[in-house]
Amino acid sequence: MQERVEDGCATVGSMAVDWARYLAAYHRDNPGITERVLSRSTHGEVGDPYRWLRSGLPQESGVVVDVAAGNLPLRPLFSRDTRYIGCDLSESELALAAGQGRSGMVLADINRLPLADACADAAVSSMGLMLVTSPQAALNELARVLRPGGALALLLPAQWPLRPIDVLPLVSLSWALKGPGSMPNVIGARRARRLIRRAGLVPLDIRRARFRLPIRSAADAELAVAALYTPGRSEKQRKRAIAALKHLAPNGELPVPLLRVIARRSPAD
Ligand SMILES: C[S@@+](CC[C@H](N)C(=O)[O-])C[C@H]1O[C@@H](n2cnc3c(N)ncnc32)[C@H](O)[C@@H]1O
Repeated sequence: MQERVEDGCATVGSMAVDWARYLAAYHRDNPGITERVLSRSTHGEVGDPYRWLRSGLPQESGVVVDVAAGNLPLRPLFSRDTRYIGCDLSESELALAAGQGRSGMVLADINRLPLADACADAAVSSMGLMLVTSPQAALNELARVLRPGGALALLLPAQWPLRPIDVLPLVSLSWALKGPGSMPNVIGARRARRLIRRAGLVPLDIRRARFRLPIRSAADAELAVAALYTPGRSEKQRKRAIAALKHLAPNGELPVPLLRVIARRSPAD
């Protein structure tokens, strides 16, 4: 279900949801949940979504700013020499990162990064930009901290590619939850390109890939549903969604279609 966000308030069906409050509580109660799902999601050629995202940036990255970084799942994919700065609004996510031995975390809003202009060689954001009230303002902020010639890599949820075998589980899930998981923004390839250009950056490569999340057990079904943002849905609806996915075990899968956007700041800026 797509939502309209106005002044931080989203509408789910006829219900008004305070997104900022919902997000803060969700990540307080479920730190690391995105990593638990994405690190289990695979693609025959590109590995997991984090490796795919990382592979869009230069090997030697200098200073890297990761925004909406969660529990910093990208940190281990950069070398020890990289000056990695992972910014997130959730104290629970950052505390989990610290407990996992990951360093470089900063409690900060994507819209107001406590960083100097042109300080970063690369900026990255995995599954964050669709959550903010203004993706344009967030991208402008990323463009501000990138040095001329610096690289940007974004990962976003997508609606396709899908396979015929995906239809049944997705329909069951949508039926149980009265719509798929919710997010304030849907950012497809065309919108991503427009946002990137308006931020003064140059889009280089925008592509989608379908990752597969195996559903081998009831626990996998529970994790898949827990990992969706479901504001305004009841516990009964969530249980119905889990029950629908449990039928996929032990050999089923859910699709995880993702969009990867690679851009850079012009060296001439
Ligand atoms: C779907 S999780 C992604 C986490 C991590 N990047 C990953 O891929 O595993 C989204 C993250 O965005 C963070 N977030 C949401 N709005 C934010 C904002 N305005 N500024 C900074 N972080 C934000 C949340 O706290 C959450 O950790």
